[in-house]
Amino acid sequence: MTAAREIPHHIAIVMDGNGRWATKRFLPRVAGHKRGVDALRACVRRCGDIGVGVLTVFAFSSENWKRPADEVSGLMELLAMALAREVPQLQSEGVRIHFVGDRTRLSDKVRNGLAQAEAMTASNTRLIFNICFNYGGRWDIAQAAATLAARGEAITEEGLSRAMALAHVPDPDLVIRTGGETRISNFLLWQAAYSELYFTDKLWPEFDDAALDTAIADYARRERRFGRTSEQVAPPRASRKAA
Ligand code: IPE
Ligand code: IPE
Ligand code: MG
Repeated sequence: MTAAREIPHHIAIVMDGNGRWATKRFLPRVAGHKRGVDALRACVRRCGDIGVGVLTVFAFSSENWKRPADEVSGLMELLAMALAREVPQLQSEGVRIHFVGDRTRLSDKVRNGLAQAEAMTASNTRLIFNICFNYGGRWDIAQAAATLAARGEAITEEGLSRAMALAHVPDPDLVIRTGGETRISNFLLWQAAYSELYFTDKLWPEFDDAALDTAIADYARRERRFGRTSEQVAPPRASRKAA
């Protein structure tokens, strides 16, 4: 069997379950989001250490505006704080930060924090870290189509891919969702067309190095066929030798 390359080049994660993690402990939901930042810090470090090239995380969806106002403002505050606190360390670890999403609805403080983080880390090459914030897969496809239309370009798959918010990286090899839900929730609708999907009941604040390793081990056992047959992607040993 041709295993997928053992370490996926691009991992994307729907970091779900912060609220339930907090509620189980009689804590406010924002306390769960704070612990979520801790889990993310560890995850970024681990990805860099094991040779993942790109990590993309879903931090706030276009739909998350529908949450209670205090949770939304808590999440905005947390993003601004986390950027201010974490970026110097990420910078020293060779992490390049990209913001992915619709910036127009974000406050100046958050927008500036994101722009600064991107500028500060722009020459890093060890790990590309995409933070999807106010991101939606439908928004992404629509904005890409609008970009092509405005330029008078034909709407083709290649053109759309180039205009999409993650055009700077290849499509994700592995999409992980924590928190037990088995849905995509408007994450990378276009880019996940051929990603391997991995769902775990672990809540995001509990998702540690061991949990990441388990997900990667599961991925490594998959056979990625991209529409071909098993024989085509994993020819029998004899013919593989001849080839
Ligand atoms: C995911 O955790 C983080 C965000 C959506 C910002 P949730 O807040 O959705 O956690 P649950 O699903 O309520 O447990
Ligand atoms: C998806 O989680 C969005 C993020 C993790 C940022 P949600 O908790 O918002 O997803 P649904 O609403 O349960 O599908
Ligand atoms: Mg959730």
